[in-house]
Amino acid sequence: MRLNVAVQMDPIERINIGGDSTFALLLEAERRGHALAYYTPDRLAQLDGAVFATAQPLAVRDVKGDHFTLGEPRRLALASFDVILMRQDPPFDLAYISATHMLERVHPATLVVNDPAHVRNAPEKVFVTLFPELMPPTLVTRDRTEIQAFRAKHGDIVMKPLYGKGGEAVFRLAPEDLNFGSLYDLFAVTFREPWVVQKFLPAVRQGDKRVILVDGEFAGAVNRVPAPDDLRSNMVRGGVPQATDLTAREREICAKLGPALRERGLLFVGIDVIDDYLTEINVTSPTGIRAIKALGGPDIAALIWDKIESRR
Ligand SMILES: Nc1ncnc2c1ncn2[C@@H]1O[C@H](COP(=O)(O)OP(=O)(O)O)[C@@H](O)[C@H]1O
Ligand SMILES: [Mg+2]
Repeated sequence: MRLNVAVQMDPIERINIGGDSTFALLLEAERRGHALAYYTPDRLAQLDGAVFATAQPLAVRDVKGDHFTLGEPRRLALASFDVILMRQDPPFDLAYISATHMLERVHPATLVVNDPAHVRNAPEKVFVTLFPELMPPTLVTRDRTEIQAFRAKHGDIVMKPLYGKGGEAVFRLAPEDLNFGSLYDLFAVTFREPWVVQKFLPAVRQGDKRVILVDGEFAGAVNRVPAPDDLRSNMVRGGVPQATDLTAREREICAKLGPALRERGLLFVGIDVIDDYLTEINVTSPTGIRAIKALGGPDIAALIWDKIESRR
């Protein structure tokens, strides 16, 4: 089967091919003989009812500094593709939301991965609150009195933006920390939306585990250990990837989430687990599959393409 595949992503010349999950998906698609076309979200256009993109044929290679070749740009109806990979990175802002609206016009006649309506509905730190029994104690608010009460109860807390990514602006406040007032004020002027206040999990020193689910099934995992001088495990912040297995509790978490992901068309999902507590469900543009394979784990790009092909 040869599929016509478009990838909607950030500029391909800027990616780090060693760690980029989108690139892993593209390499596998090319290996399977699918035709690839590439465009960035700013080449989308909706004319009356139909959505178009100015896209370029794409060839990829696993070679640093020479990882892609683009052909001549052509304006194509999105409906002419069999599959569209929606893979631009957050921020999850109105630009992101607008792109999901456009892609929703062609899905599911053209299979969009992940389902754009459900991506829009499931920002990582919001979707996860559907599963409070799996999470650490978590408050979403911008109300100072609420935060003070939560802090009085839990002592050691973390404050982080609701739509943050890559460890941006994640702060720990120990019980005696006098910076609460200033940090509160800073968040209040920086963000218009509520933010996340969460019980601090000291076991984060042992790592934050990224677990990948493909069509609701566990596919692979990588642990990420923060740098000694940082709270954040994100690899872009110096978190070090380590091979890992699932704990019994993590298997339970996957089993509980599986049906909810499958029924929403969230085919490629990365969840984050600290100390057996679920903190995030990443559906926008999850990463981790190259690190998992590099550490001797499964080839998740192949699992994802098996699933996509079985839908076409
Ligand atoms: N409740 C918490 N307890 C301990 N560490 C945390 C907590 N929340 C976040 N962190 C640390 O901050 C990092 C980034 O936070 P996360 O909630 O995953 O947001 P992001 O979307 O920016 O990755 C985590 O990988 C972890 O290292
Ligand atoms: Mg995270």
